[in-house]
Order: sequence, then C-alpha cells, then structure tokens
Amino acid sequence: MRTPLLAALLAVCVTTTAATAAPDPAPASNPVGDPKVASSDDGKYFDANGNPTYKIDKNDKVDWYTFSGYRRFNGTCEVCHGFDGSGSSFAPDLTQSLKTIGYNDFQNIVVNGKQDVNTAQSLVMPAFGSNKNVMCYLDDIYVYLRARADGAQPSGRPAAHEDKPKTAIQNENDCMGP
Ligand code: HEC
Repeated sequence: MRTPLLAALLAVCVTTTAATAAPDPAPASNPVGDPKVASSDDGKYFDANGNPTYKIDKNDKVDWYTFSGYRRFNGTCEVCHGFDGSGSSFAPDLTQSLKTIGYNDFQNIVVNGKQDVNTAQSLVMPAFGSNKNVMCYLDDIYVYLRARADGAQPSGRPAAHEDKPKTAIQNENDCMGP
C-alpha cells in the first residue's frame, strides 16, 4: 500500500509549493520570468507577463522567431558575443546574461548601447537603435537568446522550424520599408 502514501505526500508537497508561490513575485525582483508559453498570436509566443518567448517541441522544432533570431544574432552580434552568444574576451556571454536580464532591459541595452569604461578595461556595446537589421528583429533575437540562456536551445542551427507566419512577413515589410 505504498502508492496512497506517496500520493498523500505529493499532495502535501504540491499544497506547500502552491502556498509559498501564492504572492506573485514583483516583476522587478524577477525581470526574466517564467519562459513557459502562456499565449500565442499567429506563431508568436508569449509568457504569462506578455513578453515574447520561445517554443520548442519534443522533436527540437523551434518557432519561427527563435529560428529567425538565431540567424539575425549570428549576422550582427556574433562578432563580439561569440558564436551562439557564448561570449568572447571582450563581450559578455549572453547565455549567462539573459538569465537575469529581462525583456525590457534587453531592449534598452540593444537600442541604446552600454559602456563600462575605466582605466582597467574598455567595454563598449554599440547602440543599435537606428539599425533596421537589428530593430526589425529585436524580439526574434530576444527569444533566441532566451532559449539559449535557459538551455532549451543548444548551440548551432535549430534542427527544424515552424513556417514563417503571415504576421512576420507583414511586420518585416512594414519595418524594413521598400
Ligand atoms: C562591437 C562589439 C559588440 C557587438 C557587435 C554587440 N555587442 Fe553586446 N555588448 C558588447 C560589450 C563590450 C558589452 C559589455 C558592455 C558593458 O559591460 O557595459 C555588451 C553587452 C551586451 C548586453 C548586456 C550583457 C550584460 O551582461 O550586461 C546585451 C544584452 C548585449 N550586449 C546584446 C547584444 C546584441 C543582441 C547584439 C546584436 C544586435 C550585440 N550585443 C552586439 C559588445 C558588442
């Protein structure tokens, strides 16, 4: 008669966890949030906070934006941050950084740049606010890096991806212009 006892213990654990988790953590103390998909809109996925997130199925097929982010990241950011974001001697490992940098801070850093310059070092992240090849794909790059930081997407090209959604085609045309 082990099973009912185990079930009872599990029930206690679940209740305890639920009780501790009850007061929602303030967004400021947890800017990254749970990457779990809470909603979607034409092939774009969002977490419970409404921030973009990735979706990777059990066959390693990724959503369109994660795949697009992989390509965009490795077109523009990789020169400094290393292949797949894993860092270099002069730019941080983003697969670590994105564990604590949330969506809003990420956008802010990429749009405006970031500097840490002193006598010992000179670290300069350029501002990409006027670079359409980055701005038109900011969410794509974010979800890709989010998947990398969570260990959900290994290094290298995603094995397979969802088709490009109509909305992505439309937004790309609007953003990039003629
Ligand atoms: C010319 C080199 C260079 C390029 C290109 C570059 N970065 Fe950076 N990035 C840096 C450096 C250097 C830092 C560290 C700045 C600091 O410490 O203040 C940084 C910091 C960051 C951070 C904050 C990391 C942290 O731990 O504080 C993010 C996020 C980031 N970069 C994203 C990107 C993205 C996305 C791209 C491509 C669109 C990109 N970077 C392109 C050099 C670069």
